[in-house]
Amino acid sequence: MARLLITGGAGFIGSHTCLVLLEAGHELVVLDNYANSSPEALRRVAELAGPGAANHLHVIEGDIRQPGDLERAFTAGRAITASAQSANAAGIDAVIHFAGLKAVGESVAEPLRYWDVNVTGSRQLLAAMAANGCRTLVFSSSATLYGYPDTVPIPESAPVCPINPYGHSKAAVERMLADVAASEPGWRIASLRYFNPVGAHPSGRIGEDPNGIPNNLFPFISQVAVGRREQVQVFGGDWPTADGSGVRDYIHVMDLAEGHLAALEVLLAGEDQQLTLNLGSGQGHSVLEVIRAFEAACGQRIPYVITSRRSGDAASTVADPGHAKSLLSWQTSRTLQEMCRDGWAWQSANPDGYR
Ligand SMILES: NC(=O)c1ccc[n+]([C@@H]2O[C@H](COP(=O)([O-])OP(=O)(O)OC[C@H]3O[C@@H](n4cnc5c(N)ncnc54)[C@H](O)[C@@H]3O)[C@@H](O)[C@H]2O)c1
Repeated sequence: MARLLITGGAGFIGSHTCLVLLEAGHELVVLDNYANSSPEALRRVAELAGPGAANHLHVIEGDIRQPGDLERAFTAGRAITASAQSANAAGIDAVIHFAGLKAVGESVAEPLRYWDVNVTGSRQLLAAMAANGCRTLVFSSSATLYGYPDTVPIPESAPVCPINPYGHSKAAVERMLADVAASEPGWRIASLRYFNPVGAHPSGRIGEDPNGIPNNLFPFISQVAVGRREQVQVFGGDWPTADGSGVRDYIHVMDLAEGHLAALEVLLAGEDQQLTLNLGSGQGHSVLEVIRAFEAACGQRIPYVITSRRSGDAASTVADPGHAKSLLSWQTSRTLQEMCRDGWAWQSANPDGYR
């Protein structure tokens, strides 16, 4: 058992990861300001994790940019009784840092907000970690760092060339983490570069619930399927791909959640280290392929229209996940059909999300 601080734990990826961590027997302190989530997600996580799980899930409403809120979270960690295996007598053993803003278009319109929440927020978190003697961190990075990749599948050694403020903010945090790790011994850090997380827990009780118009394909398709939106816009039908639509590497959010558990276990078992790992399936699926798979899952037609390409998109973005496989002994196991089935289970049972 480890005592873990999960920032942004009420969000899409955070909530699924909290469930996997509770099921693995860890004690969690979640810090979230609900800027893009609902406390209901964590209530359902506790319900899914089974009787007594709520006693192991300590929720604090607060902002990662506020030192006082971070201190409350570390104080809550100290209040949890340490087990024999717990490495850090001072409290929290490790942090998984999901909290942040993630909408590319919004980041172009409001770059300072992205630098503030994603970069200043991470800086405040690192300072609080150091002050509390906690130097083990799993960070939510993104494949958006690769910009327009030269090589597909993309290895971690590919150049970091983000093309929007969201990507710049993630690159800045990765840089900050490298500087901090080099400044003193003891840091164990994993930056996980996610590809396209989709789907939901198979129960349909928790899932992705974006505010406003979804930025990503999957929640858009599921909102069309449930009647909340009229049709899917496919940006570009003339990409150099098999059917002309863009190709992405979709990863089931439960596979991604299990990837966090694997990374955490490797960090907690090891010495000082800094890992940078792609978390993806290594398989590409086109937008039209995803629409067809979702139609099969929900049993209805998904209306779509092909429009012009969107600036900032690449033809194909697929991970080389070999490094994560060898270092974490982890790989994805869920198919596109399962992503669609579980995403539909969530959306059809919760047409308005957690509201
Ligand atoms: N979903 C994706 O496609 C994707 C891809 C690559 C990387 N990521 C990264 O993964 C992380 C989690 O993504 P997600 O899809 O779960 O997003 P999400 O918006 O569902 O979750 C983020 C959580 O952070 C919280 N939060 C935001 N600002 C905060 C602040 N200042 N203080 C405390 N809490 C705050 C939100 O309320 C939310 O619960 C993000 O850092 C995101 O950039 C996501």
